[in-house]
Order: sequence, then C-alpha cells, then structure tokens
Amino acid sequence: MGKRKVLVTGSGGQLGGAICAEFSDEELIPLTHAELELVDHGNLLKVVTAHNPSIIINCAGYNRVDEAENNVEVALAVNAFGVRSLARAATDVGAIFVHYSTDFVFDGVATVPYTEQDEASPRNVYGTSKLIGEWFASDIMGAYILRVESLFGGTPARSSIDQITDAIVNGREPNVFMDRVVSPSFVYDVARATRSLIDAKAPAGLYHCVNTGHTTWLHLAEEITRQLQATTSLRPISVASLSLPAVRPVFCALSNAKLAAAGFKMPSWQDALTRHLASRRQALR
Ligand SMILES: NC(=O)c1ccc[n+]([C@@H]2O[C@H](COP(=O)([O-])OP(=O)(O)OC[C@H]3O[C@@H](n4cnc5c(N)ncnc54)[C@H](OP(=O)(O)O)[C@@H]3O)[C@@H](O)[C@H]2O)c1
Repeated sequence: MGKRKVLVTGSGGQLGGAICAEFSDEELIPLTHAELELVDHGNLLKVVTAHNPSIIINCAGYNRVDEAENNVEVALAVNAFGVRSLARAATDVGAIFVHYSTDFVFDGVATVPYTEQDEASPRNVYGTSKLIGEWFASDIMGAYILRVESLFGGTPARSSIDQITDAIVNGREPNVFMDRVVSPSFVYDVARATRSLIDAKAPAGLYHCVNTGHTTWLHLAEEITRQLQATTSLRPISVASLSLPAVRPVFCALSNAKLAAAGFKMPSWQDALTRHLASRRQALR
C-alpha cells in the first residue's frame, strides 16, 4: 500500500501531536492553528483542496470550557461550524474524516458508563458546541466521531493529570474531585485506536474512545501517588464546592465496548498512567 496523505488540523495541540506521531510513516500534512484557521471557511476549502488528502483528522477545538460560557459565538464558530466546513471539505476531496468530541455532551447524572446510544444532554456551552459539531460531522458519509475524555500524555505536559502529578511530586497537596467520575484517555492510545479503525475499515459513526475503566479524580490521584511512591497528601473536594462558570457533569464514565467490538480494545487507564508516568520520569526527578 502506498503512503496515504493524512491532513491533521490542530497539530500543535496535545492530541494533534500524538496523531502526527502515529501517522508519521504516512505522507503527513500537520497544520497548526497558525497554518489553518477553522473558522475561515473559504481558505479552509482552498487549503484542503490544494493538499487533496485521503484522510482528514480534526484535532482542533476551542476547549476553554469556562471561557466558552461568555464566548458562545467563538465556541460555536470553531466547534460546530468549523467542523461543518472541514466535513464538507472532506466530502469534496473524498477523504475519510475523523473528528473528536467529549464526555461533556452528557448531563452527568448517570450511574453506569454512558454508551453511544445514550441521549446527549449537555449542561454547558462547550458541550453544546461539541454536540452540534458531532451532528455536522455525522451529516457526511463515512465520518468517525470519537468521544474522548480527560486527555493526557501530550507535549508539553499540561493536562489535569499532569498538573496533579506535578503537585504531588513537588509536595503541594492538590485539590482533587472526590465525586467527579471519568474515564481518562491517553493520547497515544486514542491515536492507535484512530488508526486501527481506519485501517480496519470499521463502520463509520460514533465511538467512545477512552481507556478502559473509570475512576474518581481522587482515586486517580491516589494511583499517581502510589505509582510514584510519593507521600504527598491529597485534598478531596466536591464538584459542588467550586463555583466554576461552566457546570461540570459529575458522572461521565464512558463505555468503550463498541470500540472493542470493532476490534480495538483500549488498555486500562491504570496501564496508560504507568506508561505516561514512565515517559515523564526524567522530567519528574
Ligand atoms: N483536553 C481534554 O481533556 C479533552 C476532553 C474531551 C474532548 N477533547 C477534544 O479532543 C480534541 C483535542 O483536544 P486537545 O486537548 O488536544 O486540545 P488542545 O491541546 O487545546 O489543542 C487544540 C488545538 O486546536 C487549535 N485551535 C483552536 N482554535 C482553532 C481554530 N479556530 N482553528 C484551528 N485550530 C484551532 C489550538 O491552537 P491554539 O492553542 O493556538 O489556539 C490547539 O493547537 C478537541 O476536539 C477537544 O474538544 C479534549
């Protein structure tokens, strides 16, 4: 098989970097925000047409969850209409389109992990803009929409997991949610799953793409402490105790059973955390 042309938007972001690494043996077209602006529909069409890729992977997104509450039009322009432009451009050039969404499309009142069949009901502007983006992506033939959650593993290391890790290493007791339940997603596992779906020509559509299992942030921080053999104490807090501009859904575990049935079994979040901490070991000393 000859090399495929793979265009990656948001290549400067944490997931974008991992996707570029995963597809580095292909003819890669990594485009940072400075190189491709999602909200400039006309230029976007020109750029995509000029490159004529066979795969477009959209890692760009407006992810400032709290700021989005007062920047509704920016959130919609990037996360909804930007996705529509890219999806249409993918159709024009006949490219496979991959887009990433979020657990924040759910209201967080479930008690068992959400599946792809569960009804979305976002509680904040970011989640709403991402849900509309999903709709636009699913409007075209053959799009893969992968919901990820609490991403970690990107460079530079600035995810919530990295912030908690840094605090633990430096003996600064981190605040950790004891009631928010998540299924974290290691960017390199998400990247391998993405490639696996494409290579296997898996049915297009919506997949939950998270590491296997779920945990509270408190339990996750305890696991970081255990794996690092650290002694720093943790400060458990509840979601309700913080008054953040954007409502945080509380229970957001996602089931990745559909992805497993399609042939890609995600490693557990504990295994992903071990690999991540090993890769950061040098910097953490
Ligand atoms: N991070 C998480 O925990 C999380 C959780 C659930 C879902 N997701 C989804 O996963 C995807 C990747 O997230 P990530 O954590 O890798 O995000 P990230 O690190 O913030 O990267 C996003 C990239 O998109 C770029 N970007 C922002 N606005 C853009 C625009 N208008 N046009 C073109 N590029 C633009 C950003 O560039 P600048 O920084 O220069 O603006 C950045 O390089 C997103 O769809 C996000 O919604 C993330």
